[in-house]
Amino acid sequence: MAKGSKTVFFCQECGYESSKWMGQCPGCKAWNSFVEEVVESKKAAQALSRSKNIEAPVTIAEISTEKDARIQTNIGELDRVLGGGIVAGSLTLVGGDPGIGKSTLLLQVCRNLAGLGRKVLYISGEESLRQIKLRAVRIGEFNNNLKLFCETNLDTIREVIKRENPEVTVIDSIQTMYNEEVSSAPGSVSQVRESTGVLMQIAKVLGISIFIVGHVTKDGNVAGPRVLEHMVDSVLYFEGDRHASYRILRGVKNRFGSTNEIGVFEMCANGLEEVKNPSEFMLSGKPEGASGSIVACSMEGTRPILIEIQALVAPSNFGIPRRTAAGTDFNRVNLLMAVLEKRARLNLSASDAYVNIAGGIRMNEPAIDLGIILAIVSSYRDVVIDEKTVAFGEVGLSGEVRAVSMAEQRVQEAKKLGFESVILPCACMKSVENIKGIRLLAVDNIKDAIRCIGA
Ligand code: TYD
Ligand code: MG
Repeated sequence: MAKGSKTVFFCQECGYESSKWMGQCPGCKAWNSFVEEVVESKKAAQALSRSKNIEAPVTIAEISTEKDARIQTNIGELDRVLGGGIVAGSLTLVGGDPGIGKSTLLLQVCRNLAGLGRKVLYISGEESLRQIKLRAVRIGEFNNNLKLFCETNLDTIREVIKRENPEVTVIDSIQTMYNEEVSSAPGSVSQVRESTGVLMQIAKVLGISIFIVGHVTKDGNVAGPRVLEHMVDSVLYFEGDRHASYRILRGVKNRFGSTNEIGVFEMCANGLEEVKNPSEFMLSGKPEGASGSIVACSMEGTRPILIEIQALVAPSNFGIPRRTAAGTDFNRVNLLMAVLEKRARLNLSASDAYVNIAGGIRMNEPAIDLGIILAIVSSYRDVVIDEKTVAFGEVGLSGEVRAVSMAEQRVQEAKKLGFESVILPCACMKSVENIKGIRLLAVDNIKDAIRCIGA
């Protein structure tokens, strides 16, 4: 080994650094995740400082924000998640399972931007030019403002970006990129971290907006380092069931806008199409006259989305009842069942319970608590809930139904989609009194709510 270099062990899950090998990571508790990597800290530090030209500190008034005008991608759902478009000089990480459609989405972004007369560079380390062309043919027509480049060496990429000077660049994917100054293999923690550092510098110094594609591991982290999330300006996750056609783009970090905003897409034969009205989409296929099903409302960023919550409560054949929760937090479902048992005197301890957010979307907002509770009661008592009813509200440990934010938007969304009544917390009534044309059923606790559905 060359003099001056030392080896460090990195957790491949979270990026935890240690001077010796460990069986379990103290940071993220993953087992057997430490991998030895050679680091040459001196060289990396030099590389960072090389292109730094020292400037004097400035006052806020001196900073011009003219350049911060957003670049619209003409994909409304993506612009929304980004907070109104791409910010010049920003670095955005797009994570997601393999095959979910990251490359497709970004190629569509490139097509739109090129169509608007902006220079775009798409750099792929995963696919050959031919493969990209095959995808491009499915998506549509491209003009000459888009250039493609297959490369994994970051030094070359830096030179090409400087020469081409595009407005937007896509790097597909960060796990294939290779920085010669770091001796470990592509995809390893130090490689991914250094590469992102280099791209960050390119973005900030040249004012180029860069999209980085990152693959995620089994448990949903961007492969290898969580450190990546701290370095970039925005983190978007592309999720959804591979077997279903819709895809959800979720903003989990955004330095230029609100987080938790989602964009909904559908994977079609010719690329991704926006779903402009997700509630309608999520509710299509809702069964009629079935017990254990209710429509709830969750706010995703600034937009209310109606979803169907399903529950199946069946007698258990074993001593320990089975419980599962798909699309929401398992522990939350257990807690709500305990509340039902204690506060509404439902004997659930001898029943298996399966709770599912239909459509495979993940929702964790506490406002869906009331929906989960009512779905479970409906299935347990085998009572069909009126299909034109929506419920929302947070449920507390004493069985009280608590206020949630943005009640007005939720009720308006329900009204827009033709629902006739809404079960909501009493404390929210003030903000929605003026809405006409929909029946408002205010409830104080879960017993009232259960009475509302006639169970
Ligand atoms: P891709 O963008 O290659 O995924 P990622 O880059 O996240 O790994 O998505 C590929 C999948 O999308 C593949 O299973 C085929 C499907 N697809 C369509 O259904 N329609 C299309 O028009 C395109 C381009 C891909
Ligand atoms: Mg891809």
